Amino acid sequence: MSREAKLEKLAAKRQEVLLGGGEKKIEKQHQSGKMTARERINALLDEGSFVELDQFVTHRGTQFGMDKAVAPGEGVVTGYGTVDGRLVYVYSQDFTVLGGSLGEMHAAKICKVMDLAVKVGAPIVGINDSGGARIQEGVDALNGYGEIFKRNTLASGVVPQLSVIMGPCAGGAVYSPALTDFVFMVNNSNMFITGPQVIKSVTGEDVSAEALGGAMAHNRVSGNAHFYAADEAECIGQIRRLLSFLPANNLEGAPLFDCADPVERADEILATVVPDDPNKAYDMHDVITAIADNHDFFEVQPYWATNILTGYIRLNGVSVGVIANQPKAMAGCLDINASDKAGRFIRFCDAMGIPLLTFVDTPGYLPGVAQEHGGIYLCL
Ligand code: HXC
Repeated sequence: MSREAKLEKLAAKRQEVLLGGGEKKIEKQHQSGKMTARERINALLDEGSFVELDQFVTHRGTQFGMDKAVAPGEGVVTGYGTVDGRLVYVYSQDFTVLGGSLGEMHAAKICKVMDLAVKVGAPIVGINDSGGARIQEGVDALNGYGEIFKRNTLASGVVPQLSVIMGPCAGGAVYSPALTDFVFMVNNSNMFITGPQVIKSVTGEDVSAEALGGAMAHNRVSGNAHFYAADEAECIGQIRRLLSFLPANNLEGAPLFDCADPVERADEILATVVPDDPNKAYDMHDVITAIADNHDFFEVQPYWATNILTGYIRLNGVSVGVIANQPKAMAGCLDINASDKAGRFIRFCDAMGIPLLTFVDTPGYLPGVAQEHGGIYLCL
């Protein structure tokens, strides 16, 4: 075969992979308000910065029809690129290819980007949109999950790990996000270990997928998610913003921003924001935004355990983690959820060398049988 013919064959093969599961499935994805795996990566990364890895990898299954199954890109797009000029590793599951299900080689592609991210010290962003373990590959798929979870634990505290849920995330797929530092969920995505039908048959409970594991359920009720977005574009904006506050790894500082907000600036509101009457509530957001550069506070977990606030500000351009009691919710008292929320946030900032600023105004721990029996001592 001539050189030209070989290059033509390569280009045609690449075109096939770029189309994933094909036009029809892409259209279905768009109709349900979802971007494709590649569109998500392109929206997240700086224009033209994405370098794809392992584009031609495919499965080697032979059982249960897999000998005939074509899986362009193995149902996951992996590689690296930049966000605001800073290196980020990324994987994005392709629901148009076998439902984004995770088989042996799909997992191997993810593991490779995780290994590279840890090796060079760059954040990992994992975009999840998958039917879970690829049933046809059985225990090979489960082993793939095990390999990913192991890497999640090894990368923990070394590089920031961000999980983004933009579709279904069920069964084995949920453990990896739970092991990462930040979970973003988009409206209409869901996350559960066992879905509504299994729950119905085991416990008899009737629950919709949305109520069980929807984006708001995990942002407001379980605390498993940190950010809620109405759509994918909003979610991508949140990811880019969070990354701007974080260092690339546990040895580097967070990026320093030019600051036009004078460091000596005094803010009148601080003289009056705390009411004279100690029984009167006030909003701790007002204190934080008064102090922050340009009054800018990026809140983490704004919907869960609202009696404590966590998030990032900058002071003279330096990234700072904020933990603050919130007198406006439950009089700012501490409970199990607030302690878990703050503890997790503090551990991450500690590992990444992000300074902490604490605002204290609390009557103490919430008394009650539920708190004592719920394991409050473990949080202390
Ligand atoms: C193989 C899968 C798949 C899977 C979906 N597909 N999930 N193939 N393994 N796990 C395929 C479908 O057969 C279909 O193929 C295509 O992906 C799109 O799926 P649809 O069902 O048509 O899409 P939709 O109606 O949007 O429903 C999406 C879904 C549903 C809710 C995710 O597909 C589903 O319930 N899937 C199974 C979820 C599940 O039980 N996962 C747990 C696996 S066990 P065609 O060819 O028709 O387009 C597990 C345990 C691990 O994860 C434990 C680790 C420790």
